[in-house]
Amino acid sequence: MYDFSLKNVVVTGAAQGIGRSIAEGFIKNGAKCVVMLDYNGEKVAETAKTLDPEGVRTLAVKCDVSNRDEVHETFQMLYEKLGRIDVLVNNAGINRDAMFHKMTYEQMRSVIEVNFFGMVHCCMEVIQPMRDQNYGRIVNISSTSQHGNVGQTNYAASKAAINGFTRSLAKESARKGITVNAIEPGYIDTDMLRTIPAEKLEARLAGLPAQRFGTTDELANSVLFLASDEASWVNGNIMIVSGASVTS
Ligand SMILES: NC(=O)c1ccc[n+]([C@@H]2O[C@H](COP(=O)([O-])OP(=O)(O)OC[C@H]3O[C@@H](n4cnc5c(N)ncnc54)[C@H](O)[C@@H]3O)[C@@H](O)[C@H]2O)c1
Repeated sequence: MYDFSLKNVVVTGAAQGIGRSIAEGFIKNGAKCVVMLDYNGEKVAETAKTLDPEGVRTLAVKCDVSNRDEVHETFQMLYEKLGRIDVLVNNAGINRDAMFHKMTYEQMRSVIEVNFFGMVHCCMEVIQPMRDQNYGRIVNISSTSQHGNVGQTNYAASKAAINGFTRSLAKESARKGITVNAIEPGYIDTDMLRTIPAEKLEARLAGLPAQRFGTTDELANSVLFLASDEASWVNGNIMIVSGASVTS
């Protein structure tokens, strides 16, 4: 267990999958407020109600992280309401897989805009306040696909960009009590995984050292550690959480 009782946390893409489990983990570890942000407003409100029926620990907010103005307005509202943000988890992400010779420009652009610029937009909102308060934890969700994957030039590029950004922002922010880390999940059992055709998924499963996909809770546990006070000396790291399918 960690003590997040004095911490306001923002988790993007929290309506389902990994983001939902991350939000749940913070709630279970006593976070003061968990802002659950997602572009699917209805679903994130439903999820928040399931995880926090009294509505005392969570704030469900509809926001498209790829929209710079919307993100700015959302965080202005959050700072007015909460006063400060201690933890930001950039988890929102999409895939639009295709071989590059068949990939549309829109498939390339949308993935970079959500996965990379979505993270950038949120970081832009919190970085100065975190510097002013001399405290911050930023955890970015990357992917083992950043090492290269067939059909994922767009997705791999967006995640590799996250890693470079993470290492650089960590170096810029270390003296201000801020840590910036990324996690590269391997295959985690979510809707995103189910976008892979069944026979291909079967073949990938057979090749995994653990012979199973990871769970969203297993991934969330690593996020909680990096977001905790206990991880104060872990900074600028890219943590692979893949059940040994990819190792550093
Ligand atoms: N599932 C895996 O195997 C796996 C592996 C590596 C990395 N990841 C990464 O983990 C993160 C979560 O993935 P998941 O598997 O839970 O996917 P998911 O599709 O189940 O959930 C993604 C969530 O993000 C939200 N979202 C998408 N675009 C958004 C936007 N523009 N603004 C706000 N919210 C948005 C969706 O509504 C959804 O709730 C993603 O960044 C993904 O790239 C997943």
